[in-house]
Amino acid sequence: MKTLRTKAEVRDALGPERRAARTIGLVPTMGFLHEGHLSLIRAARERCDVVVVSLFVNPAQFNDPDDLAAYPRSEREDAQLAGEAGADVLFAPAPSAVYPPGFATKVAVKGVLTESLEGAHRGAEHFHGVTTVVTKLLNMVAPDVGYFGRKDAQQVLVLRRLVTDLDLPVVIKALPIIRESDGLALSSRNVHLDAVHRRRALALPAALRAAHEAVQAGERAAAQIVRAALEVLKRPGVDPEYVALVNPDTLAPITVLDGDALLAIAARVGRIRLIDNTSLSPIAAPDTTTPHAAAATLT
Ligand code: PAF
Repeated sequence: MKTLRTKAEVRDALGPERRAARTIGLVPTMGFLHEGHLSLIRAARERCDVVVVSLFVNPAQFNDPDDLAAYPRSEREDAQLAGEAGADVLFAPAPSAVYPPGFATKVAVKGVLTESLEGAHRGAEHFHGVTTVVTKLLNMVAPDVGYFGRKDAQQVLVLRRLVTDLDLPVVIKALPIIRESDGLALSSRNVHLDAVHRRRALALPAALRAAHEAVQAGERAAAQIVRAALEVLKRPGVDPEYVALVNPDTLAPITVLDGDALLAIAARVGRIRLIDNTSLSPIAAPDTTTPHAAAATLT
């Protein structure tokens, strides 16, 4: 696996592959790779001829400078892990290679998709930062397929909207959340949890499970399903930012569970902000909040 730093290097490396009609898969990451990222790289390896992993901690999507400064980084380990998982290229540009002096453009998906949930709490600029950098990465790498994790379910919807609206020639693949054996969704931020907060963080998957149980017991009122999740979340002192039951395509709030829905949670565990989500449905809602059940939904 080679590490490339500039778009010129990427074009030189991928030009012959593209001319030979070989398929290119891109896994955009901010590094500090974990099993969630590696599952995306392995999926890309299975389906694409060439696998590119980008590693760029994108300042434009951080609303909090302390969060950006604290974001864990480990390029050497990331290169090792990405290579072992099957990547051919690690594209790790410097900030100045992505945002050169004079950079003045923003790509923004507007409306509920970016203004609700994460957008409401982190500011819509968060998603504008994501859509700007992902547009640039897609332009620089020109992949056939881009791989993203469903832990960032809202991000996936925003990126699908972006790709549709701008006619970007790429397919967005979204893969299941990968969890620790006790159910905690993998996140680069988990490294900041000390033992006490690590245990408390289990309240997030437990809250999602409580919502599943409420639905299985016949509850259909969104307020009651959310209440069931909130009760479990707050019990160990976790501070919820939101627990929302929404339409899984539009993110519009729902009042009655009469079709597929997304239950999304954001919460602070100590100083660490975590997110998690699950799908709910009145018919045979698959519980993806345990690693075993999540693996069963892999196709
Ligand atoms: O999901 C992430 O890690 C980031 O939002 C992404 C897609 C790499 C853009 O910086």
